[in-house]
Amino acid sequence: MKFFIDTANIDEIKEANSLKILDGVTTNPTLISKTGKPFMDVVKEILEEVPDKPVSLEVASTDYEGMIKEGEYLAEFGSNVVIKIPMTLDGLKAVKHFEYKGIKTNVTLIFSPAQALLAMKAGASYISPFVGRLDDISHTGMDLISDIVNIRDNYNFDTEIIVASVRNPIHVIESALLGADIATIPFKVISQLVKHPLTDIGLERFLKDWESVPNKPF
Ligand code: E4P
Repeated sequence: MKFFIDTANIDEIKEANSLKILDGVTTNPTLISKTGKPFMDVVKEILEEVPDKPVSLEVASTDYEGMIKEGEYLAEFGSNVVIKIPMTLDGLKAVKHFEYKGIKTNVTLIFSPAQALLAMKAGASYISPFVGRLDDISHTGMDLISDIVNIRDNYNFDTEIIVASVRNPIHVIESALLGADIATIPFKVISQLVKHPLTDIGLERFLKDWESVPNKPF
């Protein structure tokens, strides 16, 4: 299973990248706005840090022509740029266009199996179903992932499933159990994945007992 980081914060991307478990980056307009920096400055610093891993950059236009123009512009900045496109009719048409041009796409804001099926049929390289936002409205987000994995496997679509809107370690583990290809994870949740109270207690005890071992070489 691949781990992407869901942020536009360069310090978080650098920190996650230093762990050597990072497989890609996803951004969105909200995450970009949180940096307070000009869009293209953020794009360039991310692509400099991860020149060889997929980086999803979202278009801001909602019409077909606008999406094509923005996507083609962004794709010039690196062969690892993935154009993130909203799940709309114009978005689906844009996906086909980018597929023809050899530009990778990530269809975002997917909340139903029907939307996922359409995006996969359109030739999306990645799709991003949002589990956390479904949980927020009292739906079970992980049920969507289960359905999409089944559909993808029934028809051998090449599309990779990115579990998005991840809010906690359980989302990550359930994604892995269901066979999702990727989870895009906020930095905070990556840190939480490392932690277990029994690890801390165990380490503390080992260190205490180590104090009484005689003639230690280090
Ligand atoms: C997906 O690619 C989105 O950037 C992201 O996962 C949305 O997460 P949120 O629901 O926590 O904003």
